[in-house]
Amino acid sequence: MILTTTIRLITSLLALSALSTTSCQKEENAVRWEPDSSIEAKVTALLSEMTIDEKIGQMTQADRGALGNIQDIKEFHLGSLLSGGGSAPSDNTPAGWADMYDRFQSYALQTRLKIPLIYGIDAVHGHNNVRGAVIFPHNIGLGCTNNPAIVEEVERVTAKEVAGTGIDWTFAPCIAVPRDERWGRTYEGFSESPDPTKLMTAAAVKGFQGSSLGDGGSILACAKHFLGDGGTTDGRDQGNTQVDEQTMRALHLPGYIAAINAGVGSIMVSYSSWNGVKMHGSSYWITDVLKGELAFKGFVVSDWAGIDQLPGDYASDVAMAINAGIDMVMVPTKYKEFITTLRTLVNQGRVPLLRIDDAVRRILRKKFELGIFDRPLTDRTLTLSIGSPEHRAVAREAVRQSVVLLKNENKTLPLSKNISHIHVAGKSADDLGNQCGGWTISWSGNSGPITTGTTFLQALKNSVSPATKVTYSRDGTGATGAVIGIAVVGETPYAEGQGDRWDLSLSAEDVACVARLRATGIPVVTILISGRPMIIETALGISDAFIAAWLPGTEGQGVADVVLGDYNPTGKLSHSWPRTMSQIPINVGDQSYTPLFPFGYGLSYER
Ligand code: GLC
Repeated sequence: MILTTTIRLITSLLALSALSTTSCQKEENAVRWEPDSSIEAKVTALLSEMTIDEKIGQMTQADRGALGNIQDIKEFHLGSLLSGGGSAPSDNTPAGWADMYDRFQSYALQTRLKIPLIYGIDAVHGHNNVRGAVIFPHNIGLGCTNNPAIVEEVERVTAKEVAGTGIDWTFAPCIAVPRDERWGRTYEGFSESPDPTKLMTAAAVKGFQGSSLGDGGSILACAKHFLGDGGTTDGRDQGNTQVDEQTMRALHLPGYIAAINAGVGSIMVSYSSWNGVKMHGSSYWITDVLKGELAFKGFVVSDWAGIDQLPGDYASDVAMAINAGIDMVMVPTKYKEFITTLRTLVNQGRVPLLRIDDAVRRILRKKFELGIFDRPLTDRTLTLSIGSPEHRAVAREAVRQSVVLLKNENKTLPLSKNISHIHVAGKSADDLGNQCGGWTISWSGNSGPITTGTTFLQALKNSVSPATKVTYSRDGTGATGAVIGIAVVGETPYAEGQGDRWDLSLSAEDVACVARLRATGIPVVTILISGRPMIIETALGISDAFIAAWLPGTEGQGVADVVLGDYNPTGKLSHSWPRTMSQIPINVGDQSYTPLFPFGYGLSYER
């Protein structure tokens, strides 16, 4: 403990000393601006003093885990670091993250021009890499709330928890419009339709960025992945979106227009292709449409090693990506090679200096707007709020509103809190990791007690009367004597392409669990924990009530609130629900449209 405190103290002193030299050395530095000069004037002044190496450094983003030596931040003038999914400090606590951020920042502040780092992370459903942070419903659940206000509130809290670790930038919201649920990233989008997507996008950007980026609790948002990531053939991750331009614009562009109108500060390019052309190399979409037609003034970042997927050797990859309009490259490991390659390309005239200056101007503009030149270190008062009861209450409300009631025969639900005996079953009834899904603590997520929160089973036990007996079995046995059975089944965690599936049927284990409850002759409530609609007709047929809870996160109490009637369900499907795999892809607006449950469907309790 003494060692940690000492390290923390040294880190802060290092950073503060760098800061103090910043203020008194500004006169010695080439860079001069009046304190009240405009951001554009500051950017212009700074840009005019930068060497080509300093400029290219600003365009370079490395993963924290790939840093060969922390001195590289200073030596290569790195403009940005990131934590890829699960790339956490050994001390994975809010204070441990803040110490790590401040230490990295202290090296950036030792560079000649003392340009602070901007640090990015996938805070896509809360500050989900950080143990103890609140984990919110993934976007598919937020899309079912049909309530932009709760989405803005969720992202506001997320921004405060991210800022509480010093980090300035989230790679969110994902505004994919998933058109084929076989895609492993379906849960990261709000809806199959652009209409709710654009509403939730605007709300999310406002939540993350606040009324001003310079507010202490605001962070830079990043709309992703541009463009058409959710429209690939067969839902293949990083695949090929084979649609005409009119369809591409009608389905996948509205979210970006909403994001830009809401002031989004960054946009991430998609790994996917449009009719065989990689988005990372598309100057038409990135420069002509995004920066030209839509007048996007923020900066464009590549995806993780996204430029490496371009055809040709590395030099042509870099040239194609930067000339297409990418401003910052998430390298994220070979950052020295990237810097050397880009410098050579500039010297050869294959990448114009004007393009470099445009990219750096866009990046610096956001750094000034964020206020990190003046306040480069963590605001530790925000650190204390991470995982607070107040933040968890917001998540609980979001969970309540995200749940969709699909079936409720004979008014099975809501349950009385005074029932004599409830038997709970299923692999996800008491599993926080399953409740959270991918992008939680680790990149893929994991089953089990991975962080702090409340499982559905714990929430149920917390809420029923002391006289109510609550029993549990994973497989549905042991329900004898129970008045009602609740099965909590669905998917185990996955991320990105790991979740691509040809078959979305419930597993045999899950169906057997529901069937065992049914066999006892008691009413059965089934709760589905999943990142997307699944093929459920068998389980649905033997359930008296059926709830889609999506990936609710750490606050399982929100699901129990619906089951026990403390919240009358209002959730409506943001995706069409297929009967069979042969119906997929199935989307609202299709000519022949016979889903199991239509887009916008959701029951409430009849009082
Ligand atoms: C990933 C994802 C992207 C994420 C990035 C950084 O591969 O495609 O959504 O923001 O890498 O983790």
